[in-house]
Amino acid sequence: MESAIPDLRATPRADAYAQLREMQLLLLEGSDDPIAAMATTSALLHHAFGHLWTGFYRVVEPNALLRVGPYQGSLGCLDIAFGRGVCGTAAAERRTVVVEDVHAFPGHITCDPRSRSEIVVPVFDATGALIAVLDIDSGAPAAFNHEDRAGLESLVAWFARPTYVPLPT
Ligand code: SME
Repeated sequence: MESAIPDLRATPRADAYAQLREMQLLLLEGSDDPIAAMATTSALLHHAFGHLWTGFYRVVEPNALLRVGPYQGSLGCLDIAFGRGVCGTAAAERRTVVVEDVHAFPGHITCDPRSRSEIVVPVFDATGALIAVLDIDSGAPAAFNHEDRAGLESLVAWFARPTYVPLPT
């Protein structure tokens, strides 16, 4: 299997995400393990775009608490309460949050002081339950736009496949 991750920094965003989506589906073919999918998806995104931090916070207490899951990059904080920071806001409101300037976001949680902009995408299972958020931090200001939102939402759609088996609670 071809496993090298392409450098997609110079590729038009929509094409880049389409390529990653194709790789994600191939790499995860036959798997229904969400942790394996989180790890694989983080590695693809992180190395294709050269982000600062790319990974998942899992819902460990519904409507209450997120805990760090598979990620790539510098150290992430372990626990984030719903409603706190960008991740907790995306989780509480069940919507994608794009932050052009993290210093202007009230309550932003600083895990890496080099972070300048951020996008957080909610991850749902096939029943519509929120199981995680996908968080990406960039060292560049305003690094994320509507194409990133659409591309990332298409990648996390993997977790809503009808065959998904929920994590034990
Ligand atoms: N900045 C995030 C916290 C997670 S780390 O950046 C990896 C937030 O405000 O939710």
